Amino acid sequence: MSGDQSGGENDRPETGAFFARDRAWHPPAFAPGYKSSVLRSPQKALLSLDGTLSEITGPVFGHSMLGELDNDLIHNFAKPGESAIGERIIVHGRVLDERGRPVQDALVEFWQANAGGRYRHRKESYLAALDPNFGGCGRAITNGDGHYCFRTVKPGAYPWPNGVNDWRPAHIHFSIFGHGFAQRLITQMYFEGDPMIWKCPIVGAIPDRRAIEQLIAALDWGNTVPMDARAYKFDIVLRGRRSTFFENRPEGN
Ligand SMILES: [Fe+2]
Repeated sequence: MSGDQSGGENDRPETGAFFARDRAWHPPAFAPGYKSSVLRSPQKALLSLDGTLSEITGPVFGHSMLGELDNDLIHNFAKPGESAIGERIIVHGRVLDERGRPVQDALVEFWQANAGGRYRHRKESYLAALDPNFGGCGRAITNGDGHYCFRTVKPGAYPWPNGVNDWRPAHIHFSIFGHGFAQRLITQMYFEGDPMIWKCPIVGAIPDRRAIEQLIAALDWGNTVPMDARAYKFDIVLRGRRSTFFENRPEGN
């Protein structure tokens, strides 16, 4: 496990259990406006179980498992010398825990539709064209500062069979593995200024507007690459750990 972080209190190894998930902040499993949630949501009350060693200490990933183009969706599926079609963007940010500490060596996976709003998937039925040079998925591992970065093309909005005329706003799906299965998070990132965000039934299932705003990546002008790509910044917060008590006080105090 890579719990040792550089600097200050982050030098302490992580040994405490994780905080409980804040279910008022996350969307409810049952959200009738998001039709497929009706049948797949639990029908009975949830049971709460203590985390065991396997949930709080694994999995572990290393930088050596990544391919050279894993964090470059513009090229990782393209023919040699070619690139994906679309608005070139950089997406980056930090993975932190609830105490604001960087989560090092987190595996960040991402997948998305192409610039026309179409996925490369055999069950995809939208009429937008496939891009022969775009696969739509990649991965990165956070550095010692919790930072990840990848480049891609901005995904298009797409319609989906929910209501009569529902569309998903442009979005990128994320899966993050932190330092334990209890930190696993699957979420979606949206783009600043997109009016489609506020028309989406899936976004609408999130009860608190401030929680929605945390899913919207800001245009990051300072990290734009001139004549190449604009940048968007998206920070991600995973569940944190409780303090580890040393004798009668929290460790480090
Ligand atoms: Fe999607």
